Amino acid sequence: MPFTVQDLTYAKDALEGISQKTIEAHHDRLYAGYVNKRNEIDAALPKADKSKAAATYSEYRALKLEETFNADGQILHELYFAHLGGHGGKPSGALLAQIEHDFGSFEEFVADVSACGMASRGWATVAYDPTDGKIHSFLGDAHNHGGVWGAVPLMTLDVYEHAYFMDYGTARAEYIKAFWKNIDWSVVEKAFAQVKH
Ligand SMILES: [Fe+2]
Repeated sequence: MPFTVQDLTYAKDALEGISQKTIEAHHDRLYAGYVNKRNEIDAALPKADKSKAAATYSEYRALKLEETFNADGQILHELYFAHLGGHGGKPSGALLAQIEHDFGSFEEFVADVSACGMASRGWATVAYDPTDGKIHSFLGDAHNHGGVWGAVPLMTLDVYEHAYFMDYGTARAEYIKAFWKNIDWSVVEKAFAQVKH
């Protein structure tokens, strides 16, 4: 079954400090583009000549490489848009307790993820790693870079320029401040509860 573009659960002009123009370009065109390309690749893969697969260049290699780029582009954007649309503040319950345990305080957590966002060329993703039972921020310079196998993403900060340049120019730190004001923590709490379950 082909992948489908997930609609936003909030109005495109509902965010504080992230404009409708940015959301239209980001969600409706860029994110949708990854979904469409993933479907295109899925349809092309069965027809690719596997007997010619080669690491230097082959049609099969090109498709497999871009499969992860577009799949991760889809998945990370769906995560990102799903937990926007809220009013920021703080999480509560088990998620807050885990964050305080792993980072010292919620403020330290925000500072860490924000720093990861400043240091990255693509994504700062918050994930629960079952190998140590902790929440981490992981840096990804591209959709298909920086993923840690087995770690379950809970939330993500898109720091590609397309996420903020129309609203903030080069002032990425201002965009990251706006990002935190729009988090719907109930979405992240639910993701964490599923992971712990
Ligand atoms: Fe993006």
